[in-house]
Amino acid sequence: MNKLVCGILTVILCLTAVGALAQESDLPEVRWTYPVSLTEIQSKYAMLVNADNMLEKDFEPDPLVKVTGVKRATSAAVYLEETAAKALTEMFNAAAAVTEYVYVNENGKEKTATYDEETGMVLYLKSGYRSYGTQSTTYANYLARNNNVDDGYVAKPGTSEHHTGLAFDITVAGTIFKGTEQQIWLHKHCWDYGFIIRYQEDKEDITGFLAECWHIRYVGLPHSTEMRDRNLCLEEYLGEA
Ligand code: DAL
Ligand code: ZN
Repeated sequence: MNKLVCGILTVILCLTAVGALAQESDLPEVRWTYPVSLTEIQSKYAMLVNADNMLEKDFEPDPLVKVTGVKRATSAAVYLEETAAKALTEMFNAAAAVTEYVYVNENGKEKTATYDEETGMVLYLKSGYRSYGTQSTTYANYLARNNNVDDGYVAKPGTSEHHTGLAFDITVAGTIFKGTEQQIWLHKHCWDYGFIIRYQEDKEDITGFLAECWHIRYVGLPHSTEMRDRNLCLEEYLGEA
């Protein structure tokens, strides 16, 4: 390459660099302060399902696996999306390692619960993935029992998180779940396993569902701990409230 061509190329490169610098300095400084990246927010685990964000009839979680090795409240097999199922197993195992639990009950009293060394604290899995068809039946049965009133207790088909394979219900043996030490433990610890308490009392107007202390939704870390620390429901977290 002769000297003239080299010189021209050098001048062009310099002008381009100066132009780029000038353009950059013209831009306002933008700092990304949100602690969760956009890519993570777009993860399938953060998917929003509600009356305004319905699932297609034929949506199926992938991969969908049978949940094994945990106690179930019914004889029917329970299926969940694979990552959610793994996190559930981890959380149930953590509960099973608890043999003494000191907690504050609904009346503000400190209590101590003790459990068998063999079993530890036992949680029961009640319901996981529900197809569109199963949710239709669940919804119709509920309406029939509830004088045809849809009070937000059971989701219309297409609007249920159970259809995502990322949500499940928890209960205990012999009593209603609300107010039990297992419920208190779950509400304190589920976040650390990537779960959220999806339908809370102070968010009913936003979620469109009545509070359900038993309904647990997998969103994955760090979403779950972010939502806990900032007291946000999923709609608020995703800017859809
Ligand atoms: N009970 C919850 C809202 C459901 O049916 O998905
Ligand atoms: Zn549920």
